[in-house]
Amino acid sequence: MQVAGRSVRLSPWYGFDGAVLLGLAPALWLRDPAWLDIARRAAAARGWRRFLVQATTPAQRLALDAAGWVLVDELYVLFRRGSLELPPVPHTARGVEMRRGRAADTAELLEVDHRCFEPFWMMNEAALREALQATPRTRFRVLASADDDRVVGYAIFGLGAGEGYLQRIAVDPRYQGRGLATRLIVDGLRWAKRWRARRVGVNTQRSNETALRLYQRLGFEMEPNGITIYAWPDH
Ligand SMILES: CC(C)(COP(=O)(O)OP(=O)(O)OC[C@H]1O[C@@H](n2cnc3c(N)ncnc32)[C@H](O)[C@@H]1OP(=O)(O)O)[C@@H](O)C(=O)NCCC(=O)NCCS
Repeated sequence: MQVAGRSVRLSPWYGFDGAVLLGLAPALWLRDPAWLDIARRAAAARGWRRFLVQATTPAQRLALDAAGWVLVDELYVLFRRGSLELPPVPHTARGVEMRRGRAADTAELLEVDHRCFEPFWMMNEAALREALQATPRTRFRVLASADDDRVVGYAIFGLGAGEGYLQRIAVDPRYQGRGLATRLIVDGLRWAKRWRARRVGVNTQRSNETALRLYQRLGFEMEPNGITIYAWPDH
């Protein structure tokens, strides 16, 4: 949307109904924090009730603290160079087949997602649509049980401006530790390689040691600056 001649991107926030991530140029609100209020009010006028902003530098974090925003989570940012060889795919994951994700998978996929994430990070339909449309190209794959075709895991990769991005990955807790996420990630990396992506990125919560270890094992390297998520406090 346009607010006072500036562009503000509104991205629905995962499972937090009514929550939106305000995307507005940090240079703008670093110069004048009033822009955060202007964007927030404009989003509220469109029906959003909770507001989030991301910071990627210490100066941005200081500005958000000073403006009364509250830190809610911190993410690591990792990248894997496109020139690296693909990691090997484990042979252990039998009984589960990978196929293209479909609209009809949505309900089962969200059930798996909700078993995997805490409420703040759970996908809802709007966030899923956003993830699937966020980049010019998307690879959406699900892993389904060979017996009954029930979804047991899924991954969404995006590609734009020569870079790949792992938007989302989740494997049902009952199926974890069998190499399924590795299979999904290697599939996405192969796809990104075909499109000659310079690198593939992923963000993960600082508290998510399992995911971090997995990404690092697969050749992702941590960037010095992470992402901090701030929320406007409910008054
Ligand atoms: C992170 C997540 C996707 C990993 O899924 P997974 O299918 O368990 O991942 P894998 O099995 O490929 O790898 C996980 C571990 O199992 C091990 N493993 C792989 N195959 C195995 C097998 N056949 N037997 C035993 N262990 C195995 C791997 O070595 C790996 O261990 P390591 O990371 O210590 O080296 C899953 O834990 C999850 O959905 N978590 C919640 C959602 C989430 O955090 N998503 C990522 C957000 S950024």
